[in-house]
Amino acid sequence: PDYPHEFPKNFLWGGATAANQIEGAWNVDGKGLTTADVVRQASDRKKMSMDDVTRASIEEAVADTTDTHYPKRRGNDFYHRYEEDIRLLAEMGFKVFRFSIAWGRIFPNGDDAEPNAAGLAFYDQVISTLEKYHIQPLVTLSHYEMPIHLTLEQNGWASRKTIAAFNRFTETVFTHFRGRVPYYLTFNEINTGTWGFHETGAIDTDRSSDEQLQLRYQALHHQFVASAMATKQLHAIDPSAKMGCMLARMQTYPATPNPVDVLAAQQADQRNLFFTDVQARGEYPEYMNRYFADHGIRIQMAADDEAVLKANPVDFISFSYYMTTVTSADQGHVVNGNMATGGRNPYLQESAWGWQIDPVGLRITLNAMWDRYRKPLFIVENGLGAEDKLEDGHVHDSYRIDYLRAHIAQMKQAIGDGVQLMGYTMWGPIDLISFSTSEMSKRYGFVYVDQDDEGRGSLARIKKDSFYWYQKVIQSNGADL
Ligand code: BG6
Repeated sequence: PDYPHEFPKNFLWGGATAANQIEGAWNVDGKGLTTADVVRQASDRKKMSMDDVTRASIEEAVADTTDTHYPKRRGNDFYHRYEEDIRLLAEMGFKVFRFSIAWGRIFPNGDDAEPNAAGLAFYDQVISTLEKYHIQPLVTLSHYEMPIHLTLEQNGWASRKTIAAFNRFTETVFTHFRGRVPYYLTFNEINTGTWGFHETGAIDTDRSSDEQLQLRYQALHHQFVASAMATKQLHAIDPSAKMGCMLARMQTYPATPNPVDVLAAQQADQRNLFFTDVQARGEYPEYMNRYFADHGIRIQMAADDEAVLKANPVDFISFSYYMTTVTSADQGHVVNGNMATGGRNPYLQESAWGWQIDPVGLRITLNAMWDRYRKPLFIVENGLGAEDKLEDGHVHDSYRIDYLRAHIAQMKQAIGDGVQLMGYTMWGPIDLISFSTSEMSKRYGFVYVDQDDEGRGSLARIKKDSFYWYQKVIQSNGADL
């Protein structure tokens, strides 16, 4: 007989977004230019759009006052349509909505003397609209953007000075929204800082790969400290609010039972879990010392950094889950996906962008994360990027329903295994600009947005078949999949 399991009554069903992928209005109401505003659409779907960012490309972007080449300047126009959009989320029964507050709307240069009142007012309106529909906000404080001024002046997170600037922003947010935001996350997918610019805000494409590693892990150290300081601030300013960390979790499997492959997979997993290890346990794990020594990386720490990390671990652990990978000791058979390198798994199918789809892997991930940390977990991103077809005013996205249904079924199994899961915010409930490629045509939503890759279209919102399916899932608290 099936072991009895169901979603807890207060389970947080919802969806997730990021300011620079939805808002648009890139130069409105005092907002400063950010790192997301200088990224062009990728030349190739299998590449990351921010891989080619250089100082020269940023200077060219800063001088360009149009949104023609920079899709994240356009978003999906949430800035002007948030009321309609939140009404659609409410119609699906959302309990929680994840969005980010753009640092550059509050402090246009990152280090201004005073916050920009118009920026705070915009998020006041968003939160008031959520309150009207009893949807709880889950706010990311840094989702792949920072004021470009900090990049040009001090190379973003490579500089220790950025910690104080960020904590000024977080203190302003916690104070201003006190009592209205129950859940915060500091850095979105913090581990992707090892890939560079979009997370670190540091230009390093002109450096050797060893120099890049040194710079990126140092930048990440500054983010760890800033995150711990933000947790400390939140607990003092708004004691009932909870702080989470956020990891792009990429479970990897050994390519064969050969122990050298198993070891290689374990080491790859450690380099992914390192980030949550620091943020949840409050200290650098020993296994990274060896990795740092092997790669000549030396982390510069201030005298009390370790004490700050230790005293301020996060309250809960959140992660995104899109795919798994395969690792072999010889690193053969590299996958073509734009966000992961690893081997092909012959048991899995992949999306059009090469992301390997693995619902059972989500159950494995949830169990492993719960065992490792014993802190509540929150899946804050999951979903299928696909090219939808609008036909006679309808989008029949059964492939998306299949993907989400399979993942939610595995979440239910994990809850049956004893995992404490707070909620699930699927990625991109209303179509938005892709992070990795900056395409509009890579869609995740329950709601179709009439806009193409060049920014043409009426921006009208159209409910897809999956809209009604997710409404039923939430209404039945996950019983009716
Ligand atoms: C995560 C990011 O990496 O995946 C999101 O946190 C992103 O910002 C999402 O949009 C899906 O990735 P993509 O590249 O398909 O938009």
